[in-house]
Amino acid sequence: MTVYSRILGTGGCLPERVVTNFDLEKTLDTSNDWIVERTGIHTRRVAAEGETCCDLAEQAARRAMAAAGLGPEAIDLIVVATTTPDQIFPSTACLLQQRLGIHGCPAFDVQAVCTGFIYALTVADKFVRTGSARRALVVGADTTSRILNWEDRGTAILFGDGAGAVVIEASSDPGILSTKLHADGAYKDLLQVPGGIGNGGAGAPYMEMRGNEVFRMAVTILGRIVDEALEAASMTRADLDWLVPHQANIRIIQATARKLDLPMERVVVTVGQHGNTSAASVPLALDVAVRDGRIQRGQTLLMEAFGGGLTWGSILLRY
Ligand code: UT7
Repeated sequence: MTVYSRILGTGGCLPERVVTNFDLEKTLDTSNDWIVERTGIHTRRVAAEGETCCDLAEQAARRAMAAAGLGPEAIDLIVVATTTPDQIFPSTACLLQQRLGIHGCPAFDVQAVCTGFIYALTVADKFVRTGSARRALVVGADTTSRILNWEDRGTAILFGDGAGAVVIEASSDPGILSTKLHADGAYKDLLQVPGGIGNGGAGAPYMEMRGNEVFRMAVTILGRIVDEALEAASMTRADLDWLVPHQANIRIIQATARKLDLPMERVVVTVGQHGNTSAASVPLALDVAVRDGRIQRGQTLLMEAFGGGLTWGSILLRY
C-alpha cells in the first residue's frame, strides 16, 4: 500500500502591530504608490519588542493541532523552518517542543530562507512515507524584521513577520503527490545576511539583496518548477485547483499564474496584507484560504517558493 502524507489541519499567527506603507514613507525615501505598484504590498506585521519567532510558531502550531483535532501526545515529529531562530541553539523546534509539552520525538530546524517551509514539509513527508513518523507538526516561522536594515528601502518595504503551521498524518489517501527541492549556492550573494559565527559574529547582521536580479531569477525558476511539479505527478495545468505561492511580490505571483494559465481567482494572494513573511509565507497563505473556505477537501494545490541560497522548490498535493 502506498503511504501518503495528508494535511489534517493548518494554523497561522501574525503579530498584532501593523506597519503601513505610509508609516514607511516617514523614515524612508519611498512612497505608498511605488510600493503598491512594484510589489502589491500595502501592509505588513512586525513583531513587538520581546516577541520572538518561537512565540509566533507556538500560536500557529496550537491552531494547526486544534484544527487537526489532535493533542501534543499525537505528534511524533517536529520540523521548524526558520532563518531567524530565537537562539543559536537549541533549535526553535526544540524550544517549540518544550512549549507544547511534547517529549522524546525528533525535533529540528531546517534553514532554506523563504523556501524553508517547502523544505521542511518535504523532509517531514519523507519521514511519514517511510514509516519513521506517523503525525508531524511542520512550521514555517520568521521574524525577518530583526534582520532588516530599516534604512534600506530595497528590503525594508518587502518583509513582514509571521508563522504558519500544518499537521500531517500518514494515510492511504493522497496526500502529498510530489515534492521537488533545489538549491544553487553559486547565487549566494544575491540575497544574504553576511554576519555570522564563522567570523566571530562580525559582519553586518542585516539582509542585503540584489532585488532586481532575484526578481529575474525567481520568474525564470518558477516558470520551470511548475512544469516539473506537474510532470512528476503525471498531471497537467488543467488538474490544478489552486496555486499557493510564496508571497514575495505580486508581479512574480502573476507571472507564475500566467505560466500556469491560472486566473488570479485561483491563486491565493496574501502579499498585500502580510508582505513577504519568508518561511511563513506559504503556510500562512494556505491557512488563510483553508479557513475562509476557498480551499476544499479533495482539491489539488501547487505550493512553490524561492529564496536565499538560492533555494527553490515545490509541493503538489491533494488537500
Ligand atoms: O523571497 C525572496 C526575497 N526577495 C524577493 O522576492 C525580491 C524580488 N525583487 C523584487 O521584488 C523587486 O526587484 C523589488 C521590489 C525589490 C524592486 O523592484 P524593481 O522593479 O526590480 O526595481 P529596481 O530595483 O529595478 O529599481 C527601480 C528604481 C530604482 O531607481 P532608478 O535607478 O531607476 O532611479 C531604485 O532605486 O526604483 C528605485 N527604488 C525605489 N523607489 C522607491 C528601489 N526601491 C525603492 C523604494 N521606493 N522602496
